[in-house]
Amino acid sequence: MIYAAITGWAKCLPPAILTNADLSSFLDTDDEWITSRTGMKERRISHVPLSTLGHVAACRALAAAGKTAAEVDVIIFGTTTPDQICPNTSSHVQKLLNAQNAACMDLNSACTSFLYSLSVATSLIKTSVFNNALVIGGEVISPLIDWNNRNVAILFGDGAAAFYLEASDEKEGLLAEELGCFADVRDILSVHGWGSIYANRGFHLGYTEWQFEGQEIFRKAVNGMTRATEKVLQKSHITANDIDLVVPHQANARIINAVAERINIPMDKVFVNVHRYGNMSAATVPVAMVEALEEGRILPYNNILTPAFGGGLTWCAHFLKWGERVKPLDEADIELPPCDKSALELVEEMKLAKEIGIHNATHPMFKPN
Ligand code: ACO
Repeated sequence: MIYAAITGWAKCLPPAILTNADLSSFLDTDDEWITSRTGMKERRISHVPLSTLGHVAACRALAAAGKTAAEVDVIIFGTTTPDQICPNTSSHVQKLLNAQNAACMDLNSACTSFLYSLSVATSLIKTSVFNNALVIGGEVISPLIDWNNRNVAILFGDGAAAFYLEASDEKEGLLAEELGCFADVRDILSVHGWGSIYANRGFHLGYTEWQFEGQEIFRKAVNGMTRATEKVLQKSHITANDIDLVVPHQANARIINAVAERINIPMDKVFVNVHRYGNMSAATVPVAMVEALEEGRILPYNNILTPAFGGGLTWCAHFLKWGERVKPLDEADIELPPCDKSALELVEEMKLAKEIGIHNATHPMFKPN
């Protein structure tokens, strides 16, 4: 039997930090509301495109695995916010890495994109299509945020992380998953202006307006993550007691608490970093896994559970068995280009660009008030 061991892992977070106080300087909100309703304190705003974040994370993950770019068989980039729809972002990472032997695909299932990508990569390795895979989860969502909408603008941040997977005889890596989607309620989280149906219809691609029913998303998220967890535990013939660490999608601390309570796992077995980064969509779980490793929260042969949900509404839970090594083999000598602006300045620039675009748009949805 072939398994897909995770032998390299790394994150790449843009340096500019947007605090709750920054948000309340231009939105009718405050630190107390954001902290008590979401658990979030700050999030990152990227000064570089997604492919740059993905490239840096990928270089670091390859070093952690002791591999070179030329060895990579396939790059799968899980994201909802590709640099461009065509060509895909994974091909840009291939070019930046000089990973000329790699096939390239992007996968979009919103916030579950990294975990769905992990399923695809593991299956491709288990069926011997490829011997290894570089799986990246990342978002540069800040340019697509409706910065005037306080329901949405407080929630999201930018970031990326990458895993290197390779074929192994050892029973480790992703051992079972449960994937699904509540498409009947797909419209409760819908971003208008972000896709081909909007092109040439008076919309300006990227000038988004979010349809976002927070409370219903909350309920569905808890339901989907709980259901997926119960099924994946059954499939794996284990119970919640056998789980060493839960690394959930970080969309809201209250969602994480509610899921932990329902699946009967104490919070000291749950990794939470939503206060540092907000919801980085596809990047939340891989960044959280990397930080759990850095903090010594993942030990050799640990059983890890990663429940998640996202737009669609997609949901999933993965059961992973970590391998023997919990330390990177090496570090890559690569950093992002320096950022000479504050996060608030980056946001102000995006707001201005969006206002100019909306002013020039012809569709009534984007007419200035
Ligand atoms: N600051 C201050 N007040 C606010 C803010 C804000 N940023 N946002 C909303 N409010 C107000 C509302 O207008 C409302 O006022 P009202 O009572 O006068 O009408 C009040 O606060 C309460 O709003 P609720 O929506 O009831 O607040 P709730 O406790 O449900 O929290 C939240 C809202 C945080 C969005 C929550 O519903 C949630 O986390 N939902 C899930 C969101 C999520 O997971 N998003 C990501 C999914 S997408 C993905 O992962 C790709």
